[in-house]
Amino acid sequence: MGLVGRVSAAAILLAVAGGAAFWLLTTPHPLDGGEIAALGTGDSARGEKVFNAGGCSSCHARPKSEGAARLQLVGGVELNTPFGTFVAPNISQDPRDGIGLWSLEDFANAMLRGVSPGSEHYYPAFPYSSYARMAPGDVADLYSYMKTLPAIAGAAPDHRLGFPFNIRRGLGLWKLLHLGGEPVITLADDASEAVRRGRYLVEGPGHCGECHTPRDLSGGVKKGEWLAGAVAAEGTGNIPNITSGDGGIGAWSAEEIAFFLESGFTPDFDSAGGAMAEVIKNTALLAPEDRAAIAAYLKAVPPRPNGYPAAAKPAS
Ligand code: HEC
Ligand code: HEC
Repeated sequence: MGLVGRVSAAAILLAVAGGAAFWLLTTPHPLDGGEIAALGTGDSARGEKVFNAGGCSSCHARPKSEGAARLQLVGGVELNTPFGTFVAPNISQDPRDGIGLWSLEDFANAMLRGVSPGSEHYYPAFPYSSYARMAPGDVADLYSYMKTLPAIAGAAPDHRLGFPFNIRRGLGLWKLLHLGGEPVITLADDASEAVRRGRYLVEGPGHCGECHTPRDLSGGVKKGEWLAGAVAAEGTGNIPNITSGDGGIGAWSAEEIAFFLESGFTPDFDSAGGAMAEVIKNTALLAPEDRAAIAAYLKAVPPRPNGYPAAAKPAS
């Protein structure tokens, strides 16, 4: 073999090895048998609370729905990100356009691993990197509750993504960096039950960090700036710092935070706007002790200065 032949053979070998490494590193990892067994059987009454804590309607109900229409999970909400526009799909019980035919195992793989029944990766615009912190029993409860919701036909439009973000396989690399399931904040050994419950609700189903934490270039949340506020994904305006650091909500009492999550009113009697108004529709439905737990946890997270540039203007 001449030099050129050897060089190109080496190049091909490298490309094949690179391709194989890519393939291995990006393999979807569904739950194993033990993890499936740990789901148990769900309870739909408990699942309703998980559904509200998880804020599923904010993305999966028709845009701007109110009241009972928030239980019609036809999808259609658009999420504009630096990677393109994602459209939340129909997750109603419709057997064709929704998830009516899914098993609990299918559902748990989506929520906890970001893996579809066809063994593809989901985009993290579906906040499964937070949901992966949910207790298996809560996922089963949620599944049972969603079975009680209406089946509604009609598929949501496709995502609008450019290359390479339209290739799902590559998300395996993103998951290696950002999908774990372990808590973000390590609490003191003597942290109260309320603070622990609040951590679970905020870091897991509540997915508060998905909006309130700045992201790195790969689109993963910067855990070192947890809840410090961020430039909104759409690139316009800021999402506030909800730690007690400079620019944050250190001046709010725990009661004021809990009241905000119930009513949408800040201590200055401003009302929550934008994306947070949607979140309040869910947190308003939580048990009072869960809102108090979220407040207790926000008081306990490490204070951080604002996670967005000083010059940018506030979100509306
Ligand atoms: C921030 C918006 C957002 C929230 C909140 C959200 N989702 Fe989604 N969800 C999405 C997007 C976007 C996708 C599509 C992901 C993809 O195509 O890879 C999705 C996909 C899904 C899928 C897969 C559907 C399919 O047809 O394959 C399921 C199941 C799902 N979500 C369930 C839920 C549940 C349950 C909740 C509440 C606990 C929830 N989602 C909250 C945005 C959201
Ligand atoms: C979809 C994005 C999004 C999610 C998820 C989200 N927030 Fe917010 N949040 C916002 C935005 C945007 C504002 C600013 C609202 C405004 O300007 O009126 C805000 C405001 C707030 C404020 C008031 C801060 C201030 O200085 O006025 C608190 C407290 C808060 N959020 C807590 C939470 C908690 C707790 C969660 C999880 C249960 C959460 N947020 C989830 C987007 C989000």
